[in-house]
Amino acid sequence: MKFASHVEEIDISGIRKCFEGAGPGAINLGLGQPDFDTPDHIKRAAIEAIEEGFTGYTMNLGTAELRDALSEKFRRENGLDYVPGEIMVTSGASEALFLAIAAVVEKDDEVLMSDPGFVSYSALARVTQGRPIAVPMDERFHLTAEAVAEKVTSRTKALVVNSPNNPTGSVQTREELRALAELADDHDFALISDEVYEHFIYEGEHVSPALYSDNVVTINAVSKTYAMTGWRLGYLAARGEALENMLKVHQYVQACASSVSQRAALAAVSGPQDCVREMRDEFLMRRDVLVEGLQSMGIDIAMPEGAFYAFPKVGDGSDVAARLIKGGVVTVPGFAFGSRCKEHIRISYAASMDDIKTALGRMREIL
Ligand SMILES: Cc1ncc(COP(=O)(O)O)c(C=O)c1O
Repeated sequence: MKFASHVEEIDISGIRKCFEGAGPGAINLGLGQPDFDTPDHIKRAAIEAIEEGFTGYTMNLGTAELRDALSEKFRRENGLDYVPGEIMVTSGASEALFLAIAAVVEKDDEVLMSDPGFVSYSALARVTQGRPIAVPMDERFHLTAEAVAEKVTSRTKALVVNSPNNPTGSVQTREELRALAELADDHDFALISDEVYEHFIYEGEHVSPALYSDNVVTINAVSKTYAMTGWRLGYLAARGEALENMLKVHQYVQACASSVSQRAALAAVSGPQDCVREMRDEFLMRRDVLVEGLQSMGIDIAMPEGAFYAFPKVGDGSDVAARLIKGGVVTVPGFAFGSRCKEHIRISYAASMDDIKTALGRMREIL
């Protein structure tokens, strides 16, 4: 078998590599998923769906009930007026990201993304034979329109924006997002807005850039918000032709998202939301303990404004992550998220308070 060179060139995720070498008893602060269990009322909805025999294909776009509920969610939480026909249910935000990029990128087209940034974006740009273009974030890990404008060329087809941000925890301001949306309009490229951490904000507010431009593809998922990473259920919303083109790819690669997970997602987005607030409050307490602990060791750390990651500057990030793994704490070296963050490590605080405190104790000894 001969493989496509543009696929062979893609590295296996740096995040996966860093779990290798972790011994038994290691505390895992490398993972990007809530350590909570999916709330009971959501699980029950899925069990009922199975018992009812709701186990076949659904419409390609997703069930009408779920898209109605998502339309209502967009109005209630984001102030956006997406009608159900502008919404597609996908297998996680991951598939939605792929569809958004695949719909606009041709060979050698450019996809702009922040450096540092989530690992998938550059890989997806490569899978579609496009070219990932890194845009440096500023010193507070915010992505400015000025920095993006410097990288825009006639080949720019998309910009991926992720606020709250993985791996830095930064939250873009309304003005920053409005300026990015205006840039997308000025140059007619897609602004792909990855909003999977929208409910985990401790400083600032969540703003959807789709408020300011019709060139935005809004991407979200129940994965992080409701502790449902394994259910593989995400969604995207886009105007007019954009959705139609993404649907062409989706119907052939995926057909539809899991029927059972769609019922679970319906219970999640239309049911009580206290579980989300409880998780957010718990993450906030953990963030404060983690950041205080790191600061007390003299480690340079920007206060994370959202998501559940801290991104301290530690010197040689790879060396520190390797020493921490030997000492029983798994983190992710900064290079996994781009070329400008070799001095950082990403620490996830989606772990129990006990684990965070034990890990801090181990870090103090090791560092
Ligand atoms: C910023 C960001 N976007 C998307 C995803 C993927 O989400 P999903 O599990 O819904 O595919 C992740 C997962 O870590 C993420 O951190």
